[in-house]
Amino acid sequence: MSLSLIIFGITSNLAQKYLLPALYDLEEKGLLPENTSIIGVARSPKEEGWIQEHLDLTLSKENLHHKHTIQDPVKQALLKRLHYLNGHLDDPEFYQRLHKKLTDLNSKNLIFYLATYPELYQAIFQNLKDSKLHKSKTGFVRLMIEKPFGQDLNSAKALNKLLHQFFEENQIYRLDHYLGKETLRGILEFRFKTSSNLQPLIDSRHIDHIQVTAIENFGIGERGAFYDRVGALKDVGQNHLLQMLTAATMDKPAKFTNEEVTSERIKILKKLTPLKDSVVFGQYQGYLSEKNVNPSSKTETFFALKTFINNDRFKDIPIYIRAGKKLAQTLTEVVIVFKQGEPKLLRFKIQPEEQLLMSQDPYEALILDAIRGDQTFFNDAEEVEIQWAFIDPLASKKGQPIIYQPGTDGPKEADLLIRRDGRSWAGTQTSDFSKT
Ligand code: BG6
Repeated sequence: MSLSLIIFGITSNLAQKYLLPALYDLEEKGLLPENTSIIGVARSPKEEGWIQEHLDLTLSKENLHHKHTIQDPVKQALLKRLHYLNGHLDDPEFYQRLHKKLTDLNSKNLIFYLATYPELYQAIFQNLKDSKLHKSKTGFVRLMIEKPFGQDLNSAKALNKLLHQFFEENQIYRLDHYLGKETLRGILEFRFKTSSNLQPLIDSRHIDHIQVTAIENFGIGERGAFYDRVGALKDVGQNHLLQMLTAATMDKPAKFTNEEVTSERIKILKKLTPLKDSVVFGQYQGYLSEKNVNPSSKTETFFALKTFINNDRFKDIPIYIRAGKKLAQTLTEVVIVFKQGEPKLLRFKIQPEEQLLMSQDPYEALILDAIRGDQTFFNDAEEVEIQWAFIDPLASKKGQPIIYQPGTDGPKEADLLIRRDGRSWAGTQTSDFSKT
């Protein structure tokens, strides 16, 4: 296969933290198709040899997601594939040079990875079309688009509409890296592919409630400019946490195809009830002095909410979802708490275990899926819109967030949200589950 992966935004945080390390790992494992080129695109003109320095620097940085030693032969092999093109993504002249480069490389199949600002999308799509790079007669053209996909339902709809003016749905890979996680895919394996005796217990007759948690013991770091515009609910609630919930609650798909799996996820998302009076927003003390944060910002770094899945299987079963930064610990999990008897609960750990056991990083998995043309673990147009339809009413309740101390379990109002129902958060300092 002759393939070019074109990364728009090779100097982005995303490319440095996730994409280049994932490509290194794919190279190391010999999983990239033989004739694969990678073209990194950034704005400013650079000296020849710059891309080598960029790769060196990127791989040498401390990286939570990529911890093993860098081997020179692997790096050299990756470097051979790596090209650099500078240019402005809204400048037609750049696309002429890109076209020429792709012709020189004789690439029949193209994947464009948009690690860049959403404001540029329209210009990118239009220019790809004008330079006839938006489809191919002899191979495929695919787009990988990062979250956040829009900022609310209306903007997500507008973006889907825009995309469909230029591309077919089967060319569009909307990414939520949680769908690439082995531990999340493992939930589906456990529920549907092994003969688990717990799977039949996942319904309202046996379950007391469900908790979805993604808490982190670190803050926003260098990402203030991005984070301050988004906040926790949209940064991780609209996507990662909803996907953890669907994995744990969706029905078994008739077949493990993209259409069937996506359709089961969508069925759950459609039945989620936003409860505007059961949501708490918090902000860690000290957030306002973070770099590139508005000093009077009301952006939340924590949220907790209660919801229900309004279908037969989960009728009247409360679902508690929470996420936040600068908390006492880092923990990502779905916990299904049973009504009585043994086991008391079923715990699907996404993290921290993942870092120990993980053999494939989510970005590796998703890049490979896109190369193979498998959209099962990507969001389709309808799915992202339904996620926003659930989030929008809750986001409308944001006001002044409750300030919480770093290193704690978050605002006590979040504790009350669940305590008033006679329950407690699993895995926190005051948890009733600490003994289990
Ligand atoms: C990203 C969010 O999508 O996911 C971050 O923007 C968050 O704020 C991160 O920290 C969590 O991902 P992971 O894979 O580290 O759990």
